[in-house]
Amino acid sequence: MDLRELEKTCGECRGCALWQTRTNLVFGTGSRTAKLMFVGEAPGEQEDKTGIPFVGAAGQLLDRYLEAVGIEREEVYIANILKCRPPRNRDPLPEEGDACIGFLRGQVKLIRPKMIVCLGRISAMRLIHPDYRITKEHGQFVTRGAFLMTAVYHPSALLRDPSRREEAYRDFKEIKRRLDEFA
Ligand code: URA
Repeated sequence: MDLRELEKTCGECRGCALWQTRTNLVFGTGSRTAKLMFVGEAPGEQEDKTGIPFVGAAGQLLDRYLEAVGIEREEVYIANILKCRPPRNRDPLPEEGDACIGFLRGQVKLIRPKMIVCLGRISAMRLIHPDYRITKEHGQFVTRGAFLMTAVYHPSALLRDPSRREEAYRDFKEIKRRLDEFA
C-alpha cells in the first residue's frame, strides 16, 4: 500500500464518530521521503476547512520556527494523531486516538523518517510515553527503534504563552542540528 491508498482507506474509516462532523479529512502533507516528521494532535477549524494540517494560526507560527532554523516546510512531513477534527476543538478522546493511531503508524512505515517530533503534550503522551511532561521533557531526545524522537511545545501553547518561545526556538535549533547529522 502506498500513501495515497492509505489516505483513501483513512477517508473511508468509520472507526469513531468524527467522520460524521468533519468537513475534510486531514491526512497529512509534505515530502514522502522526509527525514523529519512532525505529529500534532488533531485538525482545527482551518485544517478541517482545507484538508491540510497546521495551516491556521498555530501552523503559521510553526512555519516561522521552521524558517528561523532553516528547515523547508516542503522537505518535512506533517500529520496529526487524529485525522478528523473533534467538534469545537475539544480534546481527542482516548478511543478516538486508539481508532486512528494505525493510520499514523502506516504513514511512519511508508515515509520512514529519521526523526519524529511531537507537537505538544497530547502527541508526546501517545508517541513517547503516557505520562509525558512537556514542561520538563520538551527538547529531550530519545531513540525508539529506528527513530530519534523528541517533543516541543505545541504552537498553540506558544501563542497563548509567548514566554516559552525562546525555549521552543532552542529546541528547533537542536532539531535542525541533529537533522543535519543524517545528511
Ligand atoms: N493543531 C494541531 O494539533 N494540528 C493541526 O493540524 C492544527 C492545529
